[in-house]
Amino acid sequence: MASAPVAAASTAETAVVWQQMIRTSLQKNKRLPYSKYVQIATVRENGRPANRTVVFRGFLWDTEKLTFVTDTRSSKVQEAAANPWCEVSWYFPDSREQYRIHGSLSIIQQNHANEKLAKARVSAWKNMSDGGRTQFAWPQPGLPRPEPEDKSPYDLPALTAEDPVSANFSLVVLDPLEVDYLSLKGNIRKQFQKQEGGDGTGSWSETEINP
Ligand SMILES: Cc1cc2nc3c(=O)[nH]c(=O)nc-3n(C[C@H](O)[C@H](O)[C@H](O)COP(=O)(O)O)c2cc1C
Repeated sequence: MASAPVAAASTAETAVVWQQMIRTSLQKNKRLPYSKYVQIATVRENGRPANRTVVFRGFLWDTEKLTFVTDTRSSKVQEAAANPWCEVSWYFPDSREQYRIHGSLSIIQQNHANEKLAKARVSAWKNMSDGGRTQFAWPQPGLPRPEPEDKSPYDLPALTAEDPVSANFSLVVLDPLEVDYLSLKGNIRKQFQKQEGGDGTGSWSETEINP
């Protein structure tokens, strides 16, 4: 039975229910490294969907915004610039739960005007593995590979946390507006919706719906 929406207090002050649920899901699935892989769909400039796997890099500070990293030269960056709407689909195999997180994307590139976000980008760079950082020095993703046998463009010296942040490195921030939760074990489905309060605050409603 659908329950009446339950108002939550300002997201700045109170833990967001679905965010706590994701933390619990991450804990329950922590033996599976791939439980941090999510699929994120964007909208291509021709209006058709584009979807790909990315790694969840944690919540931004004490907010409910999700972070990812990507190559500034990749298609998703151009797509998000033209149309910021996106949806993440995230399945946790051990607990058999799915979260669909709908919201808007911001891409934090080199020389971002907001100092705090610029620092978050640097932290994300430092948190990468050396191998992960080095990929940002590879040739432009998505372009034809002129000589597939030539491995030298990818055989580069490892970039460490002390190396300057690559200009190709972007922090991706997803600001959620709706979260659809499904538990296959419990046959439970819940919808969480954000009512924006201005100045970055908002409150979340929670409604149980038919699975
Ligand atoms: C397991 C896995 C993890 C991945 N993690 C990331 C990631 O964190 N960031 C990223 O940009 N691409 C990641 N990729 C590559 C993307 O799925 C995609 O191929 C690439 O970002 C280009 O996508 P685009 O052309 O739509 O921008 C990952 C792929 C796999 C299979």
